[in-house]
Amino acid sequence: MDAREFQQIGHQVVDLLAEYFDHIEERPVFPDVEPQMLNELFAEPLPQAPSPAEKVLGELEEKLLPYCTHVGHPGYMGLITPSPNPVGVIADFICSALNQNIGAYTIGPAGVAMERRTVRWLTDLVGYGPEAGGNLTSGGMMANFIGLKLARDWASGDRAQQYGIHQPWAVYTSEERHVSVDKAVDAVGLGRTALRALPTDSEFRVRLDALESALAEDRRHGIRPMCIVGIFGTTNTGAVDSIRELRAIADREGMWLHADAAYGGGMLLSNESPMRDRGLELADSITIDPHKWFYAPLDAGAVLVKDERRLTASFGMKPSYLTDELDHAKERYQYYVHGFEQSRRFRGLKVWMSFKRYGARQIGEWVDNNVRQARHLYSLVATHPEFEAASPPPMSAICIRYRGADPDEAKSKELHAQVVRRVEQSGKFWISTTELKGKTWFRINPVNFRTRTEHMEQLLTLLEEECRSALQNVRLAGD
Ligand SMILES: Cc1ncc(COP(=O)(O)O)c(C=O)c1O
Repeated sequence: MDAREFQQIGHQVVDLLAEYFDHIEERPVFPDVEPQMLNELFAEPLPQAPSPAEKVLGELEEKLLPYCTHVGHPGYMGLITPSPNPVGVIADFICSALNQNIGAYTIGPAGVAMERRTVRWLTDLVGYGPEAGGNLTSGGMMANFIGLKLARDWASGDRAQQYGIHQPWAVYTSEERHVSVDKAVDAVGLGRTALRALPTDSEFRVRLDALESALAEDRRHGIRPMCIVGIFGTTNTGAVDSIRELRAIADREGMWLHADAAYGGGMLLSNESPMRDRGLELADSITIDPHKWFYAPLDAGAVLVKDERRLTASFGMKPSYLTDELDHAKERYQYYVHGFEQSRRFRGLKVWMSFKRYGARQIGEWVDNNVRQARHLYSLVATHPEFEAASPPPMSAICIRYRGADPDEAKSKELHAQVVRRVEQSGKFWISTTELKGKTWFRINPVNFRTRTEHMEQLLTLLEEECRSALQNVRLAGD
């Protein structure tokens, strides 16, 4: 492809995407298609001969675009993937063109500096001091893994990096944690049974009395408490654990405190209730994902560390083929000794460009709109005879359930599942189901700058209709 063809196809792609964004609301949120049909659509042997770029683009229009989940559609309120902001989309295009490899300074000097500045903006946002550092990661899963690895290495007096862990250790978190915490506890070699998933209160915050009992029990059995993972915005309901109290307990017990703000970190940008007084900065490490509630396109997660030196303690290996012998003054920042990943996409660019183009205030307005939408739905449900909400939403995630459902939980689960399927088929909205304290709920979470308040009213009307009709079906099937 020469420069002329690149230019032509590039312009076509930009026109296509501008049109796509402009008319996204007219598309069905989720495609009406079966997986088998999609597999057949792409079933072809490895192409041997070249095709003109226009033809390849035409194929995308025919085979990809109609069958996407349009997460930028205002009715997408599902698993936490935002409407990507258009500047972030352009940044990713530039990022691929330059292909800077942020893992090592020599493969992207300015990119490394921009990423460090972006990380600094995030560490400032959470309230960390100048000694803090961090990495942009593939997402919250990787950030939680790095947080747990930092915890393990610190708790072992930096012996675990060499010798592993051979005694029983434990990690404490809420029953409402994201599954990435379980995977991280496994990945750092403790095994999933080392995770204590503690009960929560009526607003889904971890119960401190349950934490104290679990600690006492483990101490009695010679199990060493290693780390607490506090949640700053749970996946289901946006609940925020009492980070200050968790800090005090972690200090008393000699434990690391990791905070998972993968979703809830976006709340720090809010202009109306920024939650900067919740003690997040007291955590030793924090997961915070720009690709969730900062509206950056995938992927851009982040792990932040109060003391950047802990990153080098955990990851600071320097093989000869990576050591930069030209850096006599030791001024070149090497991400590969400060993080787990080696080759790394220049994720900082889209976060940097988004902050520059919109400013934190504008992004904060989007966050506030989403919070207002969730609260509006809550107020509608509070006076609705057929629905109930799990808790008042502190953020934008809200769980509601159909009270008219059969008291038999198995039937209620079936009804809620049927309804989300019908909602999916409507093409107007996409929501999911979840379980909270043994009951099934609709999980609704706008992290979407196109969603408007009226969408919450339309969604509730649709849920009303579909729940009533599904109740009939479930009852008929039971007769
Ligand atoms: C609280 C929380 N932590 C971690 C994750 C995992 O993040 P990712 O999907 O970016 O790996 C999620 C995902 O929704 C989350 O809600």
